[in-house]
Amino acid sequence: MAGPATSPARGRLITLEGGEGAGKSTQLRRLAGRLRETLRARGAGLVTTREPGGSPGAEEIRALLVTGETGRWSPVTEALLHSAARRDHLERTVWPALETGDWVLCDRFLDSTMAYQGYGLGLGRALVETVQRAALGDFRPDLTLILDIEVEKGLRRAVARHGGEDRYERMDIGFHQRLRDGFLDIARREPDRCAVVDADADPDTVQARVWDAVSGRLGLGPSDRAGDP
Ligand code: TMP
Repeated sequence: MAGPATSPARGRLITLEGGEGAGKSTQLRRLAGRLRETLRARGAGLVTTREPGGSPGAEEIRALLVTGETGRWSPVTEALLHSAARRDHLERTVWPALETGDWVLCDRFLDSTMAYQGYGLGLGRALVETVQRAALGDFRPDLTLILDIEVEKGLRRAVARHGGEDRYERMDIGFHQRLRDGFLDIARREPDRCAVVDADADPDTVQARVWDAVSGRLGLGPSDRAGDP
């Protein structure tokens, strides 16, 4: 299966990306609320999901990836594990939802593998592209939002909200800088799909920037409710 056909009934996939502490969880929650309301008026639903994870099998693979020693996997193995999780997530969660006409909002997706494993861990673009092709074929999100923030500021925020899933946060500062540069490079290469959102502002301001990008690119309403949860 190469993914769902592009038809008028097919829903859209929006992915949210960024380094550690870019405020992704808050923005995801706020965007989901606004999107759900907007889509309801059009008779469509919204599925929110995440990577690594988003299906029972992929959640099991997530536990292998986000806990434990930073050097637990070689970069290639890590890219393959993320891609295996992604394939299961697509088959079981994302593609079935899109085929019913629902929209899907996903916390991280393929660009995280390129940024974290390709740029951050130094695997390089070519190998990650090969792995992506095997896992996804030509399937790509309709819109990818990249929340961008200075590395030091992001890491300070990430440490403040600490949980147990901190394997990547513990990578060195050079890793996080390559990661940020990687996301920005991806956006430069695919400007039609990707929108960079400056995340160095209060949550309401970032929320308005996110909605402007979503509504402008996907033809939804203007940003008039920036303070909504
Ligand atoms: P989260 O903290 O946003 O839930 O993501 C879990 C971690 O997994 C995060 O540090 C980024 C990392 N990750 C990769 O390294 N490669 C990937 O392909 C994905 C989806 C996530």
